[in-house]
Amino acid sequence: MTPVVEISADAAATGLRVAERIAALIRAKPDAVIGVATGSSPEPVYRALARHVDDGLDASGVSWFALDEYIGLPLGHPQSYRAVLERVLIAPLGLDAASLHVPDGAAADPDAAAEAYETALAGTTVDLQILGIGGNGHIGFNEPGTPFTATTHRAGLTRSTRMANARFFDSVDAVPDECLTQGLATIMRAERIELVAFGEHKAGAIAAALYGPITEQCPASILRRHSDVRVSVDAGAAAELREIRCAAQ
Ligand code: F6R
Repeated sequence: MTPVVEISADAAATGLRVAERIAALIRAKPDAVIGVATGSSPEPVYRALARHVDDGLDASGVSWFALDEYIGLPLGHPQSYRAVLERVLIAPLGLDAASLHVPDGAAADPDAAAEAYETALAGTTVDLQILGIGGNGHIGFNEPGTPFTATTHRAGLTRSTRMANARFFDSVDAVPDECLTQGLATIMRAERIELVAFGEHKAGAIAAALYGPITEQCPASILRRHSDVRVSVDAGAAAELREIRCAAQ
């Protein structure tokens, strides 16, 4: 099914719209299960959601499940996805860190940690999954070529992904080259999916995901097999959706 595409003026405007829908979910279902992405893209959403909490939204009953985590960073490393999500989501919303579930990238046995995370997710229903997208079309850390059938697993990160994430580290070599990630089949079990993307560097991936072939070479293209996906972008990320934009005017 073709995802709904929502184009806003900028990331802040998108953040407000997506956060409004998350807040509506939490009001309707205070014990909702929400899947959360890390990286720059969802941050405007989390900032806007914190304002709802300031205005009285009670998110204390929500369970939050991260998409992925690096392997090999020591516990508490500021760029581990647990630390990032505690900083950008859990603390601003005034929540208990126990409500955040993240794959254990510091585990002695990463494969067992992946299995444990998949088991935890299999025991629940994710009401809403928030996604970003990589310039190469990855979602979670499912790089091109990942089978659509994959569940939570240990994966390698491509050089291009490590380079994209080097901005959070001292150098590209400091970016771990392995991770634990929800698989594409895991992500597809979510009831509803909201993907956010900003900037022209995402335009090719967004166009390929929405209008290219549905192929494991573009992991995000699997989302067109889901019945409830919304893709929220700014003008930059929508740059290769010109026909759609003309049609919408
Ligand atoms: C992060 C994740 C990744 C990012 C993607 C985009 O948890 O799963 O798929 O969403 O790499 O990252 P940003 O938003 O930093 O451009």
